[in-house]
Amino acid sequence: MVESNVPLATLHEQVVARFTARFGQPPHWVAAAPGRVNVIGEHTDYNDGFVLPMAIERFCVIAAAPAPAGSRGITWFDEIANAAVEIPLDAPITKGSPSWANYIRGVIAGFVEQGKAPPALQVYSLSTVPLGGGLSSSAALEVATATLMEAVRGEKLDPVAKALLCQKAEHQYAGVPCGIMDQFASALGREGHLLLLDCRSRETQAVSMSDASVSVLIINTNVKHELTGGGYAQRRAQCETAARTLGLPSLRSATQPVLDAARGKLDEVVYRRARHVIGEIDRTVKAVAEIRAGRWEAAGQHMYASHASLRDDYDVSCEELDVVVDIGRSIGMAGGVYGCRMTGGGFGGCAVALVQTSKVAEIAARIASEYEARTKIKPTLFLSRPASGAVIL
Ligand code: GLA
Repeated sequence: MVESNVPLATLHEQVVARFTARFGQPPHWVAAAPGRVNVIGEHTDYNDGFVLPMAIERFCVIAAAPAPAGSRGITWFDEIANAAVEIPLDAPITKGSPSWANYIRGVIAGFVEQGKAPPALQVYSLSTVPLGGGLSSSAALEVATATLMEAVRGEKLDPVAKALLCQKAEHQYAGVPCGIMDQFASALGREGHLLLLDCRSRETQAVSMSDASVSVLIINTNVKHELTGGGYAQRRAQCETAARTLGLPSLRSATQPVLDAARGKLDEVVYRRARHVIGEIDRTVKAVAEIRAGRWEAAGQHMYASHASLRDDYDVSCEELDVVVDIGRSIGMAGGVYGCRMTGGGFGGCAVALVQTSKVAEIAARIASEYEARTKIKPTLFLSRPASGAVIL
């Protein structure tokens, strides 16, 4: 019922073997970066708020070696696309097709811009981060690419600068106006810890998550309702409108009374968006305090409240995510579920639950069977301990 995670050491061996089979030489460099799951703090990052993600034991792993003499660019084979792309290095790097390569192009362009162009390369990438599931498969690809560039050049960037370079790649090459949570989690995640990130100051704090009696269960609804970032960009613009109307630099500086006082000046939808953000920033701070104190049930209550707000005020949930959360709630504390909510951008993708480790098997079986009975869709479930951020292997 619960899918297992392929260990990073095994992925390392696989990428070396597959690179060697494809290019006829072993790789010189291997880099990996994880996906992430966000425990709480959703749609708060681009409002300068707090987020609480963790890196997961699902990785994008990339191997590379210098290209044969005479080649002037990068030949990049991606296993999921089952296709290769050529990235010329003797001309400006532009976005284009295939679109999966835009994340890579954007990151390499970021290095070139800083005078850190790589040499001609042969590259092989694989990933165990589910695509389009709200677990930041794109950030994992970006951060793994940046980490590979660091390995190739033998020169590390400051990790915050690296995360920002990757975010810029996503903005400019993939056209998604994302916040900074995903790239930070993938670059700076710490084993055994959640990452509390203040998106205004960009300061991070590691929040220990080493209590073995509590597990993080990830439930993929296996639906994706929106293919482009249209709904995401619209939410972001609505938040900016709200902040502007309130005369504030961002919704981080707003409070519920300030918002209520300006209600008459705000469109009803914009008001609801802002109410979500203000409440979510507050819940994230409170959830961290509960987690630090080991009060899992109280932390779980904030997760349910987060989900309700994302569903009712932010309108980024969907029926399938609501079904998962509803099942989690019906299993409840008695059955070992502390809390459950949608995670990531929304419109489908994954839910995250904090559960009692001793009851994982029963919980997973019940979520899977009830979800399938109610939606006619098979979900995918897996566990993850907080993993470490990007590494050169
Ligand atoms: C996506 C974005 C993040 C963040 C979440 C919502 O994952 O990439 O920056 O905004 O959505 O919390």
